[in-house]
Amino acid sequence: MQPVKIGLLGLGTVGSGTVNVLNRNGREISRRAGREIVIAKAFTRSPEKPRLCPTDNIDLVGDPFQLVEDPQIDIVVELIGGDSPAKELVLRAIELGKHVVTANKALIALHGNEIFAKASEKGVMVNFEAAVAGGIPIIKVLREGLAGNRIEWIAGIINGTGNFILTEMRDKGRDFADVLKEAQALGYAEADPTFDIEGIDAAHKLTILAAIAFGIPLQFDKVYTEGISQVTGEDVRYAEELGYRIKHLGIARRSGDGVELRVHPSLIPERRLLANVDGVMNAVVVKGDAVGPTLYYGPGAGAEPTASAVVADLVDVVRVMTADPEHRVPHLAFQADALSDMAVLPMAEIETAYYLRLSVADRPGVLADIARFLADQGISIEAVIQKEPQPGQAEVPLIFLTHKVKEKSLDAAAAQIESHPAVKAPMYRIRLETLD
Ligand code: HSE
Repeated sequence: MQPVKIGLLGLGTVGSGTVNVLNRNGREISRRAGREIVIAKAFTRSPEKPRLCPTDNIDLVGDPFQLVEDPQIDIVVELIGGDSPAKELVLRAIELGKHVVTANKALIALHGNEIFAKASEKGVMVNFEAAVAGGIPIIKVLREGLAGNRIEWIAGIINGTGNFILTEMRDKGRDFADVLKEAQALGYAEADPTFDIEGIDAAHKLTILAAIAFGIPLQFDKVYTEGISQVTGEDVRYAEELGYRIKHLGIARRSGDGVELRVHPSLIPERRLLANVDGVMNAVVVKGDAVGPTLYYGPGAGAEPTASAVVADLVDVVRVMTADPEHRVPHLAFQADALSDMAVLPMAEIETAYYLRLSVADRPGVLADIARFLADQGISIEAVIQKEPQPGQAEVPLIFLTHKVKEKSLDAAAAQIESHPAVKAPMYRIRLETLD
């Protein structure tokens, strides 16, 4: 049988990794796929740049549309990232009846509904395993492995850069900016690192996970997104003192008639496996009603871990490209005409416990006043830490852990607390998740 010909858009870190994995494991991969998979053409903006992979047998082109439109190309692999021209290229490939494999989480989270509708119309596959948690096959898990379950919740460390920063802050007391620079040098961080730090990258990935888990449309604009830039070394140490670790989590949960979609720093008990996922590693816990909690762990970024997911998608496409489109796994796991319109809950309706950090004047009655403001909103305190003032400082940090409460009650208490004359700065809150 003729080899399947791939057009590769992008020869950067992941593109080169894909070429190397296909070169190294080609025989094994074709035994799985049933056909040889060959990278025939690759688009690169800078053909003169030294490559991390051999390109002798690849036709390098400077026009990505020429690659997509080449009739010999069967499958387009999009690894250039970003919005435009990635979206136009993918839509053009679909228009021409070509299957697509992409690692582009922003593209799927923001334009996936449109892309999948077009792909269904044209009877082509658009696979995106590499878009979420790099090498962890979490899309396959949700779309196929757990298809018998009603998924109840997902909680994941789905941004390696953020996890690397929090881990280094905890283990080595390192400075935030210094660790970020290292993550950039190692090739983990997004082109715009605020995507990592402010939770946008994780929100893209959570959008995709939630759609596949619950059978809802992709709704990136409804994800509550908060980054880690306000987490201090002190917070990390207080959390440890209280028996918790701070992790940047993406959480999707069924709640009543709605669904929670949120990305934010979270305290989690230190005995949880997720609390011990360190460095650039990713991990996702999925709770299904039949299987119970399951955990998936692995590298969330990097050349070959991400290429591992890209190549697995290629194998999947090659295996079923001759099958009737209606006999393939649906793009978003659920049949396109069976998606649910379950509402995304506003944060005010979310119920969690909280870690609260305040800076207050060290005067009699301040702690009692704050405790009363919390009690007025029905917020029960689980633990309090108040340290001695540092020499020369009139203010002291005051830390509370609360029991579970609706966010709107905490907002009401926060308004009262912040108006107290002894409270010197806005109260910082970190949600606490027990993950049980
Ligand atoms: N910037 C991402 C991360 C890369 O740090 O996890 C993988 O999506």
